[in-house]
Order: sequence, then structure tokens, then C-alpha cells
Amino acid sequence: MSVLRQLKPKIYSVGAIDWDRRLFDELIPLPDGTSYNAYLVQGREKTALIDTVDPTMTNILIKNLNQLDIKEIDYVIANHAEQDHSGSLPEILDIYPNARVVCTPKCKGMLMDLLLIPEDKFITMDDGDTLPLGEKTLEFIHAPWVHWPETMLTYLREDRILFSCDFFGSHLAISDLFVNDEPTVYEAAKRYYAEIMMPFRTVIKKNMEKIKDFEIEMIAPSHGPVYKKPDFILNAYSEWISDNVKNEVVLPYISMHDSTKKMIDYFVCALIERGITVKQFNLSKTDIGKLAIALVDAATIVVGSPTVLVGPHPNVVYAVYLANALRPKLKFASIIGSYGWGSKMVEQLVGMISNLKVEILEPVVIKGFPKEEDFQALDILADKIVKKHKECNIVKGEE
Ligand code: FEO
Repeated sequence: MSVLRQLKPKIYSVGAIDWDRRLFDELIPLPDGTSYNAYLVQGREKTALIDTVDPTMTNILIKNLNQLDIKEIDYVIANHAEQDHSGSLPEILDIYPNARVVCTPKCKGMLMDLLLIPEDKFITMDDGDTLPLGEKTLEFIHAPWVHWPETMLTYLREDRILFSCDFFGSHLAISDLFVNDEPTVYEAAKRYYAEIMMPFRTVIKKNMEKIKDFEIEMIAPSHGPVYKKPDFILNAYSEWISDNVKNEVVLPYISMHDSTKKMIDYFVCALIERGITVKQFNLSKTDIGKLAIALVDAATIVVGSPTVLVGPHPNVVYAVYLANALRPKLKFASIIGSYGWGSKMVEQLVGMISNLKVEILEPVVIKGFPKEEDFQALDILADKIVKKHKECNIVKGEE
């Protein structure tokens, strides 16, 4: 879908809205679609295109540039090599043969590898380098791991706009150019953080530190709407990347013949009675993105699984693999579930979460259908979680 809009005089949004996309990287659910934002900045002497769009929507970018009657592009700023932003580069370079791709040295190598762009098309920028366009100046900030190692941010000095590419983005197809519906954008941005940025939380702290002294009037990411109130998203990120956790237990589970489900039902009530917020996810039904969002803040994860061929249920394996890869700031973990004749589920699951810096609380894995002593064991686990949360000063009211 083609929508050409102006952020400020001589600064246009020329990207595309992808209302219908429902999966990214053949992995990440996109319940609300997404957008591939590209921006055109016209200086007195030079014109720069900041990022391009997904190759499936190159025609929309070209249509927008034609609508603006852009005859010459001097620079295409490639903040990030991933194809949803760089995929249209070859075609743009064909149409505008004098354009040079401006990026970090690492991004240059990646674009040569991924898109076979010839070396003579590039100008590389070191951290802090600037590029004058005539009455508009671009300043480049190296910001690795938002979301790949080559990423950079582009700051337009005179207009105080930070073009942040994936950083601060949201997978959200929405007709608003600027953030208007804050709760909707917050949810989408948190989902985006959880799925894309959370594994790099430590590096993101450094990147946040790096931009804190810039005067920022607007943040224009490459997915989702533009922030006219930068503090809205800067404050949200500050909270998400902080070491603070909430008095919450995330409970992803599967049950085949109701033994695990009976335990989950009992355990959830036991936690709620003890004042803990529970986020329960039936893995045969849930959108895995919802689970990722819940992992951003929670103090504890308790995984529920039956035993299948000695180990955990494969859907549980998938969820635990993702949780480990996303590296949330969890502090405690445990396992509950059942088996018929034997199980190595606990050993296998504990072996899968080596990225998580968690203390393992005594699992409750039982034989067959739960009995009185099994419910007592679940009460003991719930008491233990309350105690641990209190020891860490994670109590209700501080959420
Ligand atoms: Fe939106 Fe990492 O690409």
C-alpha cells in the first residue's frame, strides 16, 4: 500500500505498509501486520534516502519517489543490512545509478554478501561521522545489535530527528504516520522488543547511553509509526532493559491427558492466592509472541509438560528453546508435569536454559494423575516462589 506523507518540510515518509503479512522470518507472528518505513531527506544540494523497503514492496517505494518527482538520489543510507530494509537497494541503485550506499564498514560487507552490491557503490561512515546535504546534516551513530552487529542510527541535526531503523520499532500496520493510539503502539513495541531486541539487552543499555545527550524531537523507526514524543518509547525501553523484574510467574504448558492440566489449574490458584500475577499460556493454542511479551518483565518461569518419549512435549521444547534464545531477565525457574513410567524431562529442560541466569526451584514432576501429596508439593513450590520474590524485594505494589 502506497502512502506518501511529510514528517517536516523536505522530509518525507516514502515506505510501505504491509497490512497482510502475518509471519516474519517464517518465525515471528505479526498479528497486526507491519510497515517498512523509508524516509527521503532533501537538503539544499543533496538528497538522501534513509533505508529502503522489503523487496516485495519495492514498487511502492518507487511509486512514492516518482510522486515526489525525485530525479536524483545522492545517498542511500543503509542503517541495517537486513532485507526488509535493504531489499530494494539493487533496484534503487539501478534507477539512480549515481547514488552511493552510506553505511558502517560492517554493513558494507554484509550488503555485498547478501545483495551482491558492487564495492564501488559504497561510502562507509565511522561512528560520529557526518554527511552534509546542504542546510541539513546527517550524523551517524554506530549502534551494534539493534538488531544485527552492523546497525547504525542516523541523526538529522537541524531537524533533531533520529532515524533508528529497527531500534524502537513496532510491527504494526497502522494508518497513523505519528503515534496516536499509545496503548496499541506500546503493546506492539513491547512485542517487537521481546522478539527482536531482548536478546541484546546488555548492548542496548550502551546504545541508550550513547543517544542520551542528543536533542531528539522525533524518533522515526523503520517499522511502525513515528514518535513525536520520544520519551514515550525511550521510557518504555528504559524499563524493559532495566534489571527490574515484576512479581509475575509465566507459565507455558502443554497437557495431553489432563494430569499436567490438573496440576497447572491447582498451581495457578495457589500462586494467585499468594498475591502473585500469573500469565498462563497453553502452548497448543497461544501466539508465541504473547509469551515473549510476558517474559520481558517476569521474575519466574514455571514450565508445565507431560512426558513424551522420555522427554518434554515437543511444543514445550520449542517454547523453552525460544525463551532461552530471547534471554529474558528471569531470576527463577521450575518445572511441573507428569509421566507414565519414566522421565528425563527435568534434566533435558534444565539443559536447554543455559542462557538464563536463573535459580532452579525444586520441580514437581509426578507419576500419573496428581494426588494429595502432589498438590502439597505444588503448595510448597508456590510458597518458595513467594519467599524468593520477597527476598529480591519483588512484591506487589512495586510492579
Ligand atoms: Fe526490520 Fe532487523 O530488520
